[in-house]
Amino acid sequence: MSHLIGIDVGTTGVKVLLINEKGLVVSRAFMEYPLHIPQLGWAEQNPENWWDATVKGVKKVLEDSVLSSEEVTALGLTGQMHGSVFLDKKNHVLRPAILWCDQRTASQCAEITEKIGRDRLIQLTCNPTFTGFTAPKILWVRENEPDIYKKSNKILLPKDYIRFKLTGDYATDVSDASGTSLLDVKKRKWSEKVLDELNIREDLLPKVYESPEITGEISREASASTGLKLGTPVVGGAGDNAAGAVGSGVIKEGVVWASIGTSGVVFASCDKPKTDPKGRIHTFCHAVPKKWHLMGVMLSAGGSLRWFRDNLGGLEIQAGKLTGEDPYVFLDAEASRAEPGCKGLIFLPYLAGERTPHGDPNARGVFFGLTLHHGKPHLVRSVMEGVAYGMRDSLGIMKGLGIKIDQIRALGGGARSNLWRQIQADVYGAELVTINVEEGPAFGAALLAGVGAKVYSSIGKACERTIKKVSRTEPIKENLKIYDKYYEIYKSLYPALKSCFDKIVGITVEG
Ligand code: XUL
Repeated sequence: MSHLIGIDVGTTGVKVLLINEKGLVVSRAFMEYPLHIPQLGWAEQNPENWWDATVKGVKKVLEDSVLSSEEVTALGLTGQMHGSVFLDKKNHVLRPAILWCDQRTASQCAEITEKIGRDRLIQLTCNPTFTGFTAPKILWVRENEPDIYKKSNKILLPKDYIRFKLTGDYATDVSDASGTSLLDVKKRKWSEKVLDELNIREDLLPKVYESPEITGEISREASASTGLKLGTPVVGGAGDNAAGAVGSGVIKEGVVWASIGTSGVVFASCDKPKTDPKGRIHTFCHAVPKKWHLMGVMLSAGGSLRWFRDNLGGLEIQAGKLTGEDPYVFLDAEASRAEPGCKGLIFLPYLAGERTPHGDPNARGVFFGLTLHHGKPHLVRSVMEGVAYGMRDSLGIMKGLGIKIDQIRALGGGARSNLWRQIQADVYGAELVTINVEEGPAFGAALLAGVGAKVYSSIGKACERTIKKVSRTEPIKENLKIYDKYYEIYKSLYPALKSCFDKIVGITVEG
């Protein structure tokens, strides 16, 4: 029997997953690393921490599996998108990686948009640019740290730095490269025009592959440090969302994926690269060759509830310590004591600015409508509802672009809570399905490895063989009406508050 490894270089840690060809998990490891916030709105990580964690994780899964490394057929990579790793000629990391959730590049985004033109940028790369994307980060480094830019020989995405450490190759895949603002997403290759206009040399970037293609093999050095067999093939892999979609069977039109992790993602597969003329949602290459996907990204989805737990959930954290239960279980119980709609308390989940649908780093979190009748249950529940309203924004834009939504698959931490699943079904007004696989992107990366190594004849076959539905959550009729009313108010709050957000940022950030 073949065995496959998927490695997910996430924001909180790296996940390494070893599965057999039937999709059963043989062993898994999760190794955390720190996230650095050197200034408000910035987010960085040290790529060497990713590598150390990956080495530990791979060793652990191999040890726990009791398999020999000979039995691992292939390996796939996935990870947080958009981050930038600057390497010099000797492949030393020149500065910490600037991450997807970093908001420092507002002026570089404006510069790119002005130089190329917003509509033309959408024509060339299928998307406007956002503060989290890679091109504005490159410009930021060129403008603010010119010595580092001059010394740069390659700029890699997070998972591709790990690929480099594993195989010695500079390579990426079409789905991850789509989030750089430098890829011609329709043609699935670097955009000469954009590179030219931004004056970025193509040789600074890695070679682009399709996700199931083999990009290289485990090197002697990496074999010695990880225990993987020399020559094990490594495939292109995918950005975490496209890999997550493969790992949950979202590979054809009609099936949509709603994932609440740190970020919130609504993901729809499509056969043509449809673009939103307003640029509110992303159009990226799918990990499935000749397919694309639409994606809405909220920056603080599960992150909002984590913020609540860490800052206002002291009691629940304590209860968790005493009982060994996850503190979120107690937060759930608290939230279930409030009624749908929270008696008019509405939370705007813009704790780190927002990407979809506002593309606004200045947006801020809000509890709106607080009264003396509200207590902690309403506060917790309104956070869950606010996140679901934010996800509904993306679903609405997709429907407006003519995307069919027959089924929504719920994933991420938000899918583990019965209450949050019900809130989602009620707010989206659609049936929510959960599947047997909870491993997300790492699982998808392992399946892509299996396709590259010909364990499976196609991505479709890999999904058919390994993924099954396990639960369905139907919307509750009475709640649909309540949420429809509150959603209208939710939608009107951002435009009403926009100028106040800008003023607040003017005071707190610019002094
Ligand atoms: C996608 C995005 C996030 C990160 C999180 O555009 O920014 O989903 O990939 O890991």
